[in-house]
Formats: sequence, structure tokens, C-alpha cells
Amino acid sequence: MASKLLVDVHTHVYLPRYASLLRSRSSVPKIVSLNNQERLVILPNETTGRPVGAQYWDRDEKLKFMDRHGIDVSVVSTANPWLDFLTPSEAHSTALELNNDLEEYCSTGPNVSQTTNLDVLKRLYGFGLLPLVPEISTESVLEAVKQIAGAPHLKGLIMGTRGLGKGLDDEALDPIWSAIEEAELVVFLHPHYGVDSSAWGEKDNGHVLPLALGFPFETTTAATRLILSGVFDRFPRLRLLLAHSGGTLPQLSSRLASCIDHDPVVATRLKHDARYYLGKLYLDAVAYGSEELGFVSDVLARAGRYEKGAHQETATVRSAGSDRMLFGTDHPFFPPLSATEKWRSVVENLDAIENVQGWSAADKDAVRGGNALSLFKLGSKA
Ligand code: URA
Ligand code: ZN
Repeated sequence: MASKLLVDVHTHVYLPRYASLLRSRSSVPKIVSLNNQERLVILPNETTGRPVGAQYWDRDEKLKFMDRHGIDVSVVSTANPWLDFLTPSEAHSTALELNNDLEEYCSTGPNVSQTTNLDVLKRLYGFGLLPLVPEISTESVLEAVKQIAGAPHLKGLIMGTRGLGKGLDDEALDPIWSAIEEAELVVFLHPHYGVDSSAWGEKDNGHVLPLALGFPFETTTAATRLILSGVFDRFPRLRLLLAHSGGTLPQLSSRLASCIDHDPVVATRLKHDARYYLGKLYLDAVAYGSEELGFVSDVLARAGRYEKGAHQETATVRSAGSDRMLFGTDHPFFPPLSATEKWRSVVENLDAIENVQGWSAADKDAVRGGNALSLFKLGSKA
């Protein structure tokens, strides 16, 4: 769909109800007050956390941020660690409440003022939440899928990497994948736990190692396990959007394919070569560099060549991998360290899209907004 709109698909909110829940807690995750400044303490092993304020929960602040950066539409998601720390009954009721809150956050927000040929386009849409915690009943999770599917402004759901406690290759998730596929909801897969922090050594490097390396590697592992368990063979219409341009999966996909081919346990398990499944993914364009974006789109573009049983000429080779990549900011995270008009984290991601060698003007417009309008079918209902 041709579009000049800028759509942010990776942008978070700690809804007021969720922020209150974190304030009420004395163990991580929590919000604490230190010298009159609230701090968010959420990551494993962190002690003092990071300063937080209205940017994290106030809708007006989200809209101001969008205006400042020329963002027309945001698809907003609750940030990590979602409901992972709650009991099944708490997670169930909190998911339903937060989904209602997010639907209201979006539906009572403004419309895009620009005239478009779309029916109605709001400025805010959302990814709902599922109560994915150990020992919850499948029915409780399916109730939340149904709730999200019926909420006009919720276009998908955000999910961490733990599933029901055993990861995303757990067969117990099959009825949930099935319901999500049937409801045509987009799953936004987002990291929180990183990898074993003993790898980070003893030096104080702030949040750099867990965020720059741990987060993307967590996403890589979770998506790989999902692929290896055959989820895409069983649910081929599932639409999965990976955070941070798929972590390191694009870089490692041929190595993964080779390891599968040489492994007697796994070699015949999947219908396709691992590289084929890469082409089924949607990736945000939160990579901060044009070379990385170009590389990732090349990896996505070649997927059709790896459809088993298809000859190269007849395989569904994609014309451009960029049609599966979508602009994001990760707001309210990565604020500038000193006051600037525009956030560097946003400008870098926009510049990266603008400067990819080999992307046409239309490809760039699609990554900035057109792909999101198609993926989320924005403007067609609501
Ligand atoms: N830090 C987080 O904890 N979450 C994000 O999504 C980004 C940075
Ligand atoms: Zn994020």
C-alpha cells in the first residue's frame, strides 16, 4: 500500500494501572522513589534501575513525542516484563484490565489529521497482552486472545520469550498459536531476560551489554526454538514481528540451516530449510544502521529460494525483503542524555532507512509506514 505516513510499530507504554502495580511492589520488577525521582527497576540483576517519568505512562507525552518526530501513527505495546511475575489468577485479570485500558487509550485518542483514502485512521493502535504464566489454563489465555481480537484498536499482542514457562517451542502453546492465527493477530516478540549475565564480567558497563547483546540474543534463541519446533509448519499463517530486526537471527540463519542439515535429530523434522522461515518473519527496523538494514532485507529476500520442493524459477522469491521491515523507535527507552529537539535514537533509525543502498524510494516509504498499514490492516476497520 503506497503511503507517506510514518508509523512506529515498536513503542511502549507502562499504562497507569501497570505503573501503579509496579509501585506497589517491593521486589523486581518495581518502581521506586529515590531522591524525589521515580526509578524503574525491571531487568534481572539491576539494582538502581533507570529514571522514569510521564514519558512512560502519559498519552499526551506519547503524542508530543510523535509530533516532534513526525510520527503519524504508533502501534503501542506494554513494555517488559509484562505479566511474567504474577500468579495465574492475577495475570488473567490484569491482562483483561490492561487490554481494556489500552483499547481506551487508543480509541479515545486523536485521528490522523492528514486526508487519506483510508476509512478512519487513528493515531494510536495497540498490541494487547496475554496472561502467559506457568500453570495458567489454556482457556484463560484463549479468553484474552478473544478479547484482543474483538477490540477494534488492538491489532496484535506483545509476547515475551518464556511462553507458559517452557519457552516458545512448548506444544502447550499450540491452541494459542492456532487462535492467534485464526484471529489474524500479529505477535510482537520482544526480549526482556537477555542471556546469562555471568557473560558480562565485573566491570560496570551500565545497561549496554544486556540491551545491546543480551536482548537481541534472547530474541534469536526464542525465534530459533519456535522455528525448530515446527510452529510455522503447523501454523503457516502466523504473523510474527521480531524486535530489534530479529536480533542476530538474520546473520546466523545459514549457519542454523547448516547445523540442522548435519544433525541427525533435526535434519528431517522441518518442511523447509531454516532460511525459508526467515522469510515468513516480519522484523522491525530498529537496527540504527543502514548497512544492517540492507543486510537484513537481503536475507529476507532470498527466503523463497529455500522452499523445499520448489525449483528456483517457480519458488516465491520475494522482490524485496524490505516489504517485511517496519520502522520503530523503542520509545520511551533510549532518551537523549542531554536535552535535544529530536531524539538521536529516532533520527538514527530514520537516517538508516533513508540511506539503505538498493532500496527504492517506494521501499523506504513502505518501511516507514506502508508495510505497517498493510500488516495491521490499519484504516480498514475502527
Ligand atoms: N529497555 C527495556 O527494558 N526495554 C526495552 O524495550 C528497551 C530498553
Ligand atoms: Zn522495546
